[in-house]
Amino acid sequence: MENKKISVKNLNLFYGEKQALFNIDMDIKENEVTALIGPSGCGKSTFLRTLNRMNDLIDGVKITGEIFIDDNDINKDDDVIKLRTKVGMVFQKPNPFPMSIYDNVAYGPKIHGLKDRKKLDKIVEESLKAAALWDEVKDRLKSPAAGMSGGQQQRLCIARTIAMKPEVILMDEPTSALDPISTMKIEELILSLKENYTIVIVTHNMQQAARISDKTAFFLNGKVVEFDKTDIIFSNPQDMRTEDYITGRFG
Ligand SMILES: Nc1ncnc2c1ncn2[C@@H]1O[C@H](COP(=O)(O)OP(=O)(O)OP(=O)(O)O)[C@@H](O)[C@H]1O
Ligand SMILES: [Mg+2]
Repeated sequence: MENKKISVKNLNLFYGEKQALFNIDMDIKENEVTALIGPSGCGKSTFLRTLNRMNDLIDGVKITGEIFIDDNDINKDDDVIKLRTKVGMVFQKPNPFPMSIYDNVAYGPKIHGLKDRKKLDKIVEESLKAAALWDEVKDRLKSPAAGMSGGQQQRLCIARTIAMKPEVILMDEPTSALDPISTMKIEELILSLKENYTIVIVTHNMQQAARISDKTAFFLNGKVVEFDKTDIIFSNPQDMRTEDYITGRFG
């Protein structure tokens, strides 16, 4: 399982005149969890969004360099919808749609034209199981998603992403709005998901990065200072700035 899934080459990103990412090179392997850490404003979310072209939605963004996913240069491909199906995203604040639990998960497949009730039922069940939520909600699939706890809502958002059968899942601080028990459940879930998906996660929680990731990239001022196996980053970082950050001297 040492296959390269994503390859970023000399990536630069500008918001208008202001450069936010500088010369980023990164190879992300299939079935690994890659954590992005670093102080506020260092470009973690910006970088994450480049991986499914979410920055396209922001006016005045310019990108140079290349991002290959399975050897396709994603910025040269016109089919952004297909890209965002393949590369799903989970946000910081759980954002379920104002509809039932079932409809939240079925929403994407329905939009893509799936009408067969049995097939939808199957996707909903499988996705909720994969998101470790099925047992908690199987008897109230028709209830509004808004009635769930924050942690359940975040797992529902993960189920909604899984329902689209992505290959890569991007997560931007997915547990920062959650209590410790919900956070632990999401961390366990991430570890189980990596069997089937490639996961890139932004986190401010260093223990979390250490617990769940295989590789860690330390960002500072729009640059990747150090990118390595997680145990090396946390036990034997090669760059003084990484060491200062992980030991809490700044950020
Ligand atoms: N839509 C935008 N327009 C202009 N500048 C932006 C935009 N989004 C982010 N920036 C700037 O780009 C830089 C990187 O921001 P980004 O949100 O990627 O950082 P981050 O590492 O995710 O920070 P945080 O940990 O606070 O979420 C910051 O200087 C930020 O102000
Ligand atoms: Mg951010």
